[in-house]
Amino acid sequence: MPSTMTETDTTFAHYPAEARAAAIYHCGVPADWAPISDRGGVSVWRVNGIAGPVALKVAERRAAPAGVVAREAAVLQRLQDPGYLLDVGAGDGAPWVLTRWWEGHSTWEALEPVRAGGGSRPLARVRLVEACLALSDLHKRGWVHGDVQPHHIIYTRVHGTRLIDFSWACTSGLEAPDTYLGGITHLTSPELAGEVEREERTSPAAPSPADDVYALAASFWWALTGDWPLDYHRAGHDEDKLSPSDVCRIIASQGLNLKEDRVWPELQELLGEVLMLSADKRPDAWTLAIEIRQLPV
Ligand SMILES: Nc1ncnc2c1ncn2[C@@H]1O[C@H](COP(=O)(O)OP(=O)(O)O)[C@@H](O)[C@H]1O
Ligand SMILES: [Mg+2]
Repeated sequence: MPSTMTETDTTFAHYPAEARAAAIYHCGVPADWAPISDRGGVSVWRVNGIAGPVALKVAERRAAPAGVVAREAAVLQRLQDPGYLLDVGAGDGAPWVLTRWWEGHSTWEALEPVRAGGGSRPLARVRLVEACLALSDLHKRGWVHGDVQPHHIIYTRVHGTRLIDFSWACTSGLEAPDTYLGGITHLTSPELAGEVEREERTSPAAPSPADDVYALAASFWWALTGDWPLDYHRAGHDEDKLSPSDVCRIIASQGLNLKEDRVWPELQELLGEVLMLSADKRPDAWTLAIEIRQLPV
């Protein structure tokens, strides 16, 4: 469990007062503030009170993190994900987003027992299908997530399967910014990795639904095996020494094989096929749901 702090802790001194007030307004007092993550100038807190938990994401007053959180605020205002967005603001140049906290396991957590060599494969299969359907639903609404990873898919008991972290989500009229470099590099499709690394690029690299599906299949592989799907070592690379830019260039070259470890051979064979197909032949998220549903367990 994350540690909790009181609302008067000095840690919050530099946060916009309006963000703290909004969190308390929505979750009630007394509130427990649990720090969840603090990366790249963006911190996430789980704030819990009698009205239930909320997620507060706050940017430092620096251009890059402020831009990312301001963009997520703009996305969520337009996305209209039912029950998710509670409030946004940009007090004193520090943008913040307040959302409902989705209570439940992520795909990473849901696959942990199978990754450890046990668990229920029928249940794991249901979870993977649900993740595909959640992404399919987003795509059918005309959106691309742009940062699909196993920690961004949450299975709730009451609100179904929900996606989070919409910092890079795109739709018509809300295209990717020129700061977009894909999501986690090892989950990036070859065509998107190539776009990110292209030197003479005149427009921002833009994620597509097919890129999301690639990232979803790679996410499943990662959550299932604890390892990235592509075998950098067999192609002569030292995985630990590769920079994100190296990884993108290598993925874009499409010369890599899949890693050989098999935790669930039938599932990994299917995921491997998806990862090796060109974007135009890759199944959409709905088709991938059906294909996973038909796998033996
Ligand atoms: N609304 C939410 N419901 C449940 N968990 C959340 C929520 N928002 C954030 N989290 C948790 O906090 C982590 C970081 O949040 P995220 O939005 O991914 O921030 P970052 O932009 O730093 O990646 C997530 O991986 C998840 O574990
Ligand atoms: Mg994230």
